[in-house]
Amino acid sequence: MEKDTIVISKGYDPLKYNGAVKPPIFLTSTYKFKSAEEGESFIRVALGLDKGEGGFVYSRFSNPNFDIVEERLSLLEGAKSAAVFCSGMAAITSTLLAFVKNGDYIFYTNPLYGGTEFLFKEFFEKMGVSTLHVNAGSESPKLMESMINSYKGKLKGKSVILYIETPANPNNVMVDLGAIVKIRDKLIKEGINAKVFVDNTFMGPIFQSPLEQKVDIVLYSATKFIGGHSDVIAGAVLGSEEDISKIKGIRGMIGTNGNPFDSWLMARSLETVHIRMQRQMENAKKIAEFLSKHPKVDRVIYPELYDKKSEQYRIYKKQCKGPGSLMSFYIKGGKKEAFKFLNNIKLCKLAVSLGGTESLIEHPKAMTHSEVDENTLKDAEITDNMIRLSVGIENYQDLINDLKSALDKI
Ligand SMILES: Cc1ncc(COP(=O)(O)O)c(C=O)c1O
Repeated sequence: MEKDTIVISKGYDPLKYNGAVKPPIFLTSTYKFKSAEEGESFIRVALGLDKGEGGFVYSRFSNPNFDIVEERLSLLEGAKSAAVFCSGMAAITSTLLAFVKNGDYIFYTNPLYGGTEFLFKEFFEKMGVSTLHVNAGSESPKLMESMINSYKGKLKGKSVILYIETPANPNNVMVDLGAIVKIRDKLIKEGINAKVFVDNTFMGPIFQSPLEQKVDIVLYSATKFIGGHSDVIAGAVLGSEEDISKIKGIRGMIGTNGNPFDSWLMARSLETVHIRMQRQMENAKKIAEFLSKHPKVDRVIYPELYDKKSEQYRIYKKQCKGPGSLMSFYIKGGKKEAFKFLNNIKLCKLAVSLGGTESLIEHPKAMTHSEVDENTLKDAEITDNMIRLSVGIENYQDLINDLKSALDKI
């Protein structure tokens, strides 16, 4: 079966539930055991004390609605296993807590989503984990390798996470995942415990499959394209059975699990993720083209518009199946002009977040990335005149008319 069929037909069998074509929402916190022996064994498996089949115990550990999304997402992404969370940040935090402790290292590409950057600096650094970045882009693997080399003596016996967001939020710059995987393999050969984590929120699950490039873990803000309707906050992590079971252990311990209704919404939304993302991408191509020719726009960053001879274009063609529907662009002028433009937008929603059916537009420096320090913003070209646009499924001509009339007001 193809993936667009899988997401509708797998993970749930109506005949097990009175023929209900759509899954019920399992609003239960706890589950009845057939016997005390079964209860004992299910609990040991849920806590990771024993390996084996297991079963439902308590909805902090698992729930049938989590299982449906986890199975559908795993099949879509080509992963062995998945875990759903109550937010993208919960997914990122729980995953890192499963693998790093005081004294370990996270090497990452800048920019990341502002909340992730903040988490690294305000939480993991204070926990004693070193978080060090290089600029995202074609040079990232080279820069990251030389930064790691300068720390080599200190890495023995440590966990080292290579954390990548590609395309990066908000500047749409790409990092070559195959080249990052080679750095991890070299570290492993030298006896260093290294893993590659990729935040695939911008392109996944349709236009980019990092596990095909042999990364270890894929992370999502499922609030975005997976949820797809701006009505749920959720997260997901995918990877090997061993890694996901470790992450689920942390999830159950600290309670960052998803909830049944949000998981039901995600399973429902996954059925349309192909057609939503396809339509959003088709709209985005036309809008990027329009913006790139507008006299009040300085520059548009969108994969289809990368210089065809550039390394960024080579990476895009190698690891993505399409350009997606996010773009950033720079208005001619500064903050005053950017705000004037945003204040005159009528159809697109002036709001943070992305990946919904409606178009969402925002000012990264003042909004999604406001907690990021000046130098980091400068390195990632997150400037006063930068705008981020997430294109929805509206009629593209209406969107162009909206953007045009707001640009005309500057
Ligand atoms: C790339 C990326 N990763 C992670 C997150 C955090 O996800 P959530 O808001 O679902 O916690 C976001 C949120 O905007 C994001 O854009």
